[in-house]
Amino acid sequence: MKITFINKETKDIESDLEIILLKKNKYLKANDMFIQKNKLYVKIVNFKYYTITETLTNTIKYIYKINKYKSVKISLYGISDIKIQALIDGLLLGGYDFTKYQSKTKKLKLQNIYIANQNYKDIELSYEDIKSKIDTNIKINININLSRDMINSVAQDTTPIKISNWIQEELKNTNIECIIKDDKYIQKELPAFYDISKGSINKPRLVHLKYNENKGYKKTVLIGKGVTFDTGGISLKPSAYMYDMRLDKAGAITIFGIIKAINDLKLPIEIHAMLGFSENMISNNAYKPGDVIKTRSGKTIEIMNTDAEGRILLADLFEYAQDKIKKIDYIFDYATLTGSVEGAIGQYSAGLIGHNSKLKNAIIKVSKKVDEWYVDLPFNRYFFDSSYKSAIADFTNTPTSSIGGGTIMGGIFIDNFLKKKYKKKWLHIDIACVSFIKNSWKYHEFGATGFGVKSSVYLIKRLTKHSIQ
Ligand code: BES
Ligand code: ZN
Ligand code: ZN
Repeated sequence: MKITFINKETKDIESDLEIILLKKNKYLKANDMFIQKNKLYVKIVNFKYYTITETLTNTIKYIYKINKYKSVKISLYGISDIKIQALIDGLLLGGYDFTKYQSKTKKLKLQNIYIANQNYKDIELSYEDIKSKIDTNIKINININLSRDMINSVAQDTTPIKISNWIQEELKNTNIECIIKDDKYIQKELPAFYDISKGSINKPRLVHLKYNENKGYKKTVLIGKGVTFDTGGISLKPSAYMYDMRLDKAGAITIFGIIKAINDLKLPIEIHAMLGFSENMISNNAYKPGDVIKTRSGKTIEIMNTDAEGRILLADLFEYAQDKIKKIDYIFDYATLTGSVEGAIGQYSAGLIGHNSKLKNAIIKVSKKVDEWYVDLPFNRYFFDSSYKSAIADFTNTPTSSIGGGTIMGGIFIDNFLKKKYKKKWLHIDIACVSFIKNSWKYHEFGATGFGVKSSVYLIKRLTKHSIQ
């Protein structure tokens, strides 16, 4: 399905159906709709962002359900950034359906949605300006839906090798360079990352994506946890907590979505995305509690719990990225790192961790505008005291005394692998709760949300104009 903005009034556009949003209509109750003579009348309570997306989500689902119309037209309902975004979010994100594993799927008839350049007054915005706002949202949302497809796909279809190949395939006609490093390379260069995959026959892969390398732009490094399935390893997860662990690759997939959207929007910035794909399995070859493993730089970690695998993968990726990429301006990591983030802040936000309040505030502010939510989880210097002190190695991989704050503690572990000069340039984003939901919410159905792509693209876009130290 394609959305096109047309510089015509609605009446001059040919289509099978017209969507008309009505605020005042005594025959319609909230969310009600009816079709009369190729016009679909939909009651809308107000024209706020949330209401527009919700109403359009219901509307597009209804059109797909009837599955009769090939083309649909709708006019703009206000031309502020947020209203344009609401329209596109409702249609594209609300219209998303994950049917890959259903044997009987109906072929959807809808091919085109036309948005007419109509329905606003007194605001001087050219067709090109509005078109560019619409296109930006379309490009971001297409990549959110692609990310949702990848996260939703089950573990046997997204082993480290398969997901790396899928990513390479998606990037064929872009300006993103895709370098895939195999398990032999990982064993030599990122030994701790290698060790957490030892229990699996599905060998790990490191995917390094480069966009605008060495063109003199600001340099952002994105690091993502891509555990394609997390059984917990020898510290096995209980079944109820294990079954949806295909979501554990969401961090890596989110940064794939971000870099791909940035490419599609042609933003002037240099991006390096480091995606670490690994499967945390249980077998006679798996790493064990009590093992001591070594990171790239030789730091030693005593394994207390093989289920805290994500932070080990990130530790090595951090050391690798800082060695390989010089003069980094920003370094953001995305990971489904801790189950405790849900208890701390609920299902609908990401946990935000870092040393730089300005950077944290910038993402919080930008994200609110696009209706994604981050909650600042501040460090407290007492958290650092002896938190990962091992009797025999440099660190343990889980906190040695139970002081709570699991998500903050996750951040504190990674912090140990960050060079001093990069501390203020770093954000750690824990998306364990918000990346995959069990109940429908907003324009999301059960499954992957694609959370983080939109807000991060807008943050990075902002950083191309105003840098934050
Ligand atoms: N992948 C999990 C975190 C997770 C849990 C993500 C639930 C999404 C939903 C991670 O690898 C993990 O198991 N973390 C442990 C860390 C603990 C052992 C310190 C956790 O959160 O319990
Ligand atoms: Zn785990
Ligand atoms: Zn995990």
